[in-house]
Amino acid sequence: MLTGKRVVLAVTGGVAAYKSAYLARRLLEAGAEVEVAMSDAARNFIGAQTFAAITGKTPVIDLFGQDLVSPHTELARWADVVVVAPATASTLGKVAHGISDDLISALLLATTKPVLFAPAMHTEMWEHPATRENIEKLRSFGYHFVGPEEGGLAGGDVGIGRVAEPESIVEELKRLMGAPEEPLEILVTAGGTREPLDPVRYLGNRSTGKMGHAIADEAARRGHSVVLVTTSGLQTHPAVEVVRVETAMEMKEAVDGVSPDVAVMTAAVADFRPADPSEEKLPREDGLDSVELVPNPDILASVVAREDRPYVVGFAAETGSVDRAIEKALKKGVDLMVYNDVTKPGSGFGTDTNEVTLIDASGEVEAWPQMPKTEVAARLLDRIVADVASRR
Ligand code: PMT
Repeated sequence: MLTGKRVVLAVTGGVAAYKSAYLARRLLEAGAEVEVAMSDAARNFIGAQTFAAITGKTPVIDLFGQDLVSPHTELARWADVVVVAPATASTLGKVAHGISDDLISALLLATTKPVLFAPAMHTEMWEHPATRENIEKLRSFGYHFVGPEEGGLAGGDVGIGRVAEPESIVEELKRLMGAPEEPLEILVTAGGTREPLDPVRYLGNRSTGKMGHAIADEAARRGHSVVLVTTSGLQTHPAVEVVRVETAMEMKEAVDGVSPDVAVMTAAVADFRPADPSEEKLPREDGLDSVELVPNPDILASVVAREDRPYVVGFAAETGSVDRAIEKALKKGVDLMVYNDVTKPGSGFGTDTNEVTLIDASGEVEAWPQMPKTEVAARLLDRIVADVASRR
């Protein structure tokens, strides 16, 4: 699907730049025309001559002094798509703040074509609040991301920050350049419900809504129409229709009002609620020997039981092996169950990353490595869209 597509491969300065030589070759093999642009720092890690030998074209390495009169705008207009691999924290920061003081940042500001970033950096740099903010900003501008992945980094360190493999980058480009996804109506539930004991106190859980919001945002970016029923106050993509709720009963009512093609239930719904919440704050002096609880409805089960049943994705927050989640998937009758072990570092509640295993309707499992929740969201949507398309 890259046949005849004009790809500008922008290489910035990280040790992962050596992998971009393989990427250039994979792009050519996929049928793309490739022009390489390199930052000064990139040439500390790999020579321009390497790319020239692979692509048959001299890479553009400077804003000034080469044959092109205006290299950044000429490349920007020539491209069907720009891929930045590796993308350093510095380049991401420049583009997020509109700085264009070198070839690559000027090219990225000048182009109106899709841009795919493949970030690579040390874990500390990837997790720095400035980088997190820049990534969110770039996503909100419509930039695309692939990776980074978990694995070996420069200097023998291990962690998240390794550039995505060339094959993954090519796959992501194919997806970006392919036919647009058929728009679907997608319902997402997110966050932890709060079940009041009195007007001040509630029974709750640790869900922040990050996982569900990442899915809703990614779906909206792809042009799907999204209703997000959430207890979380996190910001969302402007195209997402947000219904804010607090309790399981409110969540159920909001979900009942939507007839989607796909339902993705990431919310951590309390299975029980206090039977008789007090209308007044309970005074400490009165004590509280026990709280009577009554069961909440199983919202997911009610969606699965519908006559016009959508494609249903459940999430299973577990504290042990995947077996319980497989059991749950089969019992609940979902099309896909996403299991996460919430006791694993970097997985589950409140984290920016997640490590999930997909379980399909027949109990087949597919384990994914730890990755940012935004990446889990993107890959999960790829899977959902492919499954729904194959059923139509
Ligand atoms: O929000 P974050 O901080 O990003 O954390 C993400 C997460 C850990 C909450 C998320 O990845 C996750 O695992 N969500 C499911 C949490 C959960 O409650 O799992 P469960 O095993 O109790 O429920 C299984 C499924 O049934 C879930 O899809 C749940 O939404 C649904 N359910 C459960 C109970 C109920 N009464 N109604 C439901 O619809």
